[in-house]
Amino acid sequence: MTARPAHDLNRLLTLMTQLSEPSIIIKGIGSYVPERVLTNEELSKRVDTSDEWILSRTGIRERHIAADNEATSDLATKAAMAAIENAGLKPTDINLIIVATITPDMSFPSTACFVQYKLGLRDIPAFDITAACSGFLYGLEIAKGLLKSGVYHNVLVIGAEKLSCITNWEDRTTCVLFGDGAGAVVLGTSPDPDYGILESTMGADGSSYQILNLPAGGSAMPATIETVKAGKHFLQMQGNQVFKLAVRAMGDCAAAVIERRGLRNDQITWVIPHQANARIIEAISQKLGIGMERFWVNLDSFGNTSAASIPIALDEAWRAGSIKKDDLLLFVSFGAGLTWASTLIKWH
Ligand code: ACO
Repeated sequence: MTARPAHDLNRLLTLMTQLSEPSIIIKGIGSYVPERVLTNEELSKRVDTSDEWILSRTGIRERHIAADNEATSDLATKAAMAAIENAGLKPTDINLIIVATITPDMSFPSTACFVQYKLGLRDIPAFDITAACSGFLYGLEIAKGLLKSGVYHNVLVIGAEKLSCITNWEDRTTCVLFGDGAGAVVLGTSPDPDYGILESTMGADGSSYQILNLPAGGSAMPATIETVKAGKHFLQMQGNQVFKLAVRAMGDCAAAVIERRGLRNDQITWVIPHQANARIIEAISQKLGIGMERFWVNLDSFGNTSAASIPIALDEAWRAGSIKKDDLLLFVSFGAGLTWASTLIKWH
């Protein structure tokens, strides 16, 4: 093997820096999905599709749909309350709120500000981030940096979406895919360097924005009667392009964080991927050489909930008693932007 002294020195310096910093751990997890369940059978009465097509092409059986009077911040607040309780904390222990969403309550103020208000908090900073399905992992990365600054101690990172309000219910190529829900974690610090976030990476490619976006309602195409009539306020996606790029980017960034930590793929206990399509997840399983039995897959019950999908799946795995001390968890996501991210955690 060729010696790479500069590379090794950089790696050593990074490790030394990491050892002298507090580690960042998940102190509590929670999720919430709306009561209303929409099955494939019901969808096949609205558009030209079938349970067989949806299940075989995507792995989805049903999804949860928010009530008309439920906004993204309502879903987010319920998930946040559950995460705060799971951490053994009170809302007043939280000192920063980050919400990842592409379906904010309003263009402004941020959904995070609504969550702050609904949690009965005041003064603490609250902001949203937009990275579509990668939003939750982008949020973890931002929170990690801010926690390491020492200024914050308990940071709420929430992925929350009401995708039903940007779904064209007459377009069978997209309306079968999405669901509503929210997942949240409380991130904090631990003096034990062996646990918490071990590695993470995130990336983006703005040049491919055309294959997945919501064209109207922003400054590039403000809302008019014509944009509404033309359906430009609904999510648009070239599904098979997204599919190919998702497999490549998710496989590559997952492999990168494992390798950077000096681990082997077969040491990962659970891969908790963004839940977009069972065939994407199977392709990543093959690419990484990690069996499907070690992938946490719940998109059959929830569909693609974008930024909420990983924390909802994490919460489900945790409540099922499937996550134990010393487990290695790998989160990986891909979404509009294009964006991608992966986070490797050792459970405490
Ligand atoms: N029911 C029946 N037929 C359908 C349906 C449907 N619901 N949807 C599409 N079809 C048809 C198409 O019209 C097409 O018919 P044709 O051959 O006569 O033209 C045929 O099925 C195949 O269509 P494809 O789009 O090629 O189907 P594909 O196998 O690619 O599956 C899907 C489509 C499920 C959307 C897949 O491409 C996918 O999952 N893509 C990735 C989505 C994703 O990962 N998104 C992540 C990010 S989301 C975010 O960031 C918010």
